Amino acid sequence: ETIEWTSDMAKKGGYKHFMLKEIHEQPEVVKNTLMEYSEIEKVVQNFSDFKRVCFVACGTSYHASLVGKYLFETLLGIPTDVILSSEFIFSEPSLDSDTLVIFISQSGETADTLKALKVANKKSETLVIVNVLGSTATREANHVIYSRAGPEIGVAATKTYVSQLVCIYLLVIALSDDKKLLEEIKKVPDRMKSAIEDEEHIIEIAKKYKDATDFFFIGRGFSYPTALEGSLKLKEITYIHGEGYAAGELKHGPLALIDDDVPVLAVVPPGQSHDKTLGNIEEVKARGASVIAVGSSEDTVLRSEAHDFIGFEADITEMISPIPYVVPLQLLSYHISVERGIDPDKPKNLAKCVTVE
Ligand code: G6P
Repeated sequence: ETIEWTSDMAKKGGYKHFMLKEIHEQPEVVKNTLMEYSEIEKVVQNFSDFKRVCFVACGTSYHASLVGKYLFETLLGIPTDVILSSEFIFSEPSLDSDTLVIFISQSGETADTLKALKVANKKSETLVIVNVLGSTATREANHVIYSRAGPEIGVAATKTYVSQLVCIYLLVIALSDDKKLLEEIKKVPDRMKSAIEDEEHIIEIAKKYKDATDFFFIGRGFSYPTALEGSLKLKEITYIHGEGYAAGELKHGPLALIDDDVPVLAVVPPGQSHDKTLGNIEEVKARGASVIAVGSSEDTVLRSEAHDFIGFEADITEMISPIPYVVPLQLLSYHISVERGIDPDKPKNLAKCVTVE
């Protein structure tokens, strides 16, 4: 008996969709991006002195930028803003020669981002973190860092997000005297692998919640961007209404929407934000919500509070958690999408690269 392979199947490497292939490639992608460290050290040497950082991006790249803000501020003590590319021209940020403006773009062709880059170039030094070689952004910016995730076909960004994150961590490490974080990131590919090997468990969770009409994703600090990104993936490929919220903001409105029909996914790594987010889990449970928690497998309290639990090894600290913790969220959206009969590679109304303002 022979198996017929179409060229499309071959390109997907045996996976049902490009998105699934790209999720599975992520441990390798992190390893490849880590090899860029010496290149990033060279780029950093060409920076002029700067006292402020301003990140500009949209979509998933905006979420990577938010992680960048927490890193620049907590590790380097450098005041950092994050602005959506489409808002940049309205906010008239006080850019000057003391500001390093960092653009994050997978494609390097997003119209809003390119427009902001043109404006920023007149006032400040600019750096772009980009995946597509030779794209417009690489020609416009003063400095370029390539995220080297390889081509991404699925419209929803997955492996390019983790490669952007790794670039931002490496950038901050290159600017810091303390290199301890570099050792921590080296553990990430293996921890991601275990998350991917746990896929059957995530498929079970996907089946349980596939008919939800609304979903909340909550987290604090380093886990807030992860919550936003989990919610964006859900909206993009399952068409379920998802809200990503800083867990501490729930009480300022959204709690009114929580009931037993609204699952809440909580991102709760061990660290500073842990106990406070646990408090938010109790609040949403009191209103009937089912809670899916992502945290350390040794966290028995979190495990017993949650209806469904996804565990990572305890050595993944809060600061490093944005890289591996996004993986189960991507897989959950992917499997809900498939359960709902949607093609996750080609979500309706969305484009991989948005070249209109
Ligand atoms: C589109 C894509 C998103 C992406 C965003 C920004 O909306 O569908 O996946 O995050 O553009 O794209 P960029 O290429 O600038 O990162």
